[in-house]
Amino acid sequence: MVQVNSNYLKLKAGYLFPEIARRINAFCKLHPEANLIRLGIGDVTEPLPDACCKAMQHAIQEMATQDGFHGYGPEQGYLWLREAIAQNDFQSRSCNISAEEIFVSDGSKCDSSNILDILGPGNRIAVTDPVYPVYVDSNVMTGHTGDASSLGHYAGLTYIPLNAENGFQAELPSKPVDLIYLCFPNNPTGAIANKDQLAKWVDYARRNQSLILFDAAYEAFIQDPSLPHSIFEIEGARECSIEFRSFSKKAGFTGTRCAYTVIPKSLKGKTENGEIIDLWSLWNRRQSTKFNGVSYIVQRGAEAVFSLEGQSQTKKLVRFYMDNAALIRNKLSNAGYKVYGGQHAPYVWVEAPNGYDSWKFFDFLLNEANVVGTPGSGFGVAGEGFFRLSAFNSRENVEQAMKRIISI
Ligand code: MLT
Repeated sequence: MVQVNSNYLKLKAGYLFPEIARRINAFCKLHPEANLIRLGIGDVTEPLPDACCKAMQHAIQEMATQDGFHGYGPEQGYLWLREAIAQNDFQSRSCNISAEEIFVSDGSKCDSSNILDILGPGNRIAVTDPVYPVYVDSNVMTGHTGDASSLGHYAGLTYIPLNAENGFQAELPSKPVDLIYLCFPNNPTGAIANKDQLAKWVDYARRNQSLILFDAAYEAFIQDPSLPHSIFEIEGARECSIEFRSFSKKAGFTGTRCAYTVIPKSLKGKTENGEIIDLWSLWNRRQSTKFNGVSYIVQRGAEAVFSLEGQSQTKKLVRFYMDNAALIRNKLSNAGYKVYGGQHAPYVWVEAPNGYDSWKFFDFLLNEANVVGTPGSGFGVAGEGFFRLSAFNSRENVEQAMKRIISI
């Protein structure tokens, strides 16, 4: 009989969002008349920017012609998209990143877990707590951890707490680690890191020869121009960082699928025998073997994000969701809730009232207000007692959800 990857058996329950969906389905079966408002999973609700749609329509027409047809594209992404990314997202912010160092993909969730393909089994790994569950679960699946404790922490991982006391800032671990996952603007807490805070991490990584996996999927939601959008705004980051970026949230591509990963050519790792290897070549080899690229049509849509119309339309989208975030923050804090985040991120991190634990508050809101959020404990032990509300919904739904929550 075929052997299975028994690391999967170490995983706790289901992946958070399918587990929430399961509970919602059960609720809807019992209450088919309920008009649920979903502020749970961070899935966008507004239509694609017109510039992206037009570019994709044009690309479809090209594909219908002999001359404009495209078969397999480069596994790394078309150069015109990689150049637009390098120029607009990095060089314009004085980051020394070239088109060649950008790998276009179909999502940051996939990239942030697939990256483990090129990393060895012996790394000491640090994650924040709470954390985007993909970082932890992908390491469990790969066999990089032991079992989960009764608390829910996996043996072998170093957990860095994010809490109100430390301003949801990740403090440096007390013992050396090789691999560090950071996400700013943060999912789930909505916290942000400034340049000094990121510089502390880059300095740590360089001193300890560690690698930072920096998830910047929400950078477009940063409102203060002095805050860094990329780890590569920090001097020395090219020697110790990989960055994940996505078109999902800023341009409404969650269903269209386009993202990218930046791997500087100067980034090095070592084999078990101490041989120094560049990570760019390994990832390039991995992608060429296991990935056939993002469709031509979608890449043309992503390229249009950088056009003048695309820039102004995506800014408007981000503004719209950030106004939702402000509404959630204001309404809930005026009603006496303790709220965090939501100022540079589309997530508001709410302390569950009256001593509720996260899942109890989830059930309470689902049953009494017909509002869906995400239990903080689903993001880690330190998320217990918190609740994440996403700003991705229509204005009407967000207003209605706030009215319902405040009135229960
Ligand atoms: C979330 O709700 O945390 C996000 O939708 C997760 C993701 O982007 O995969």
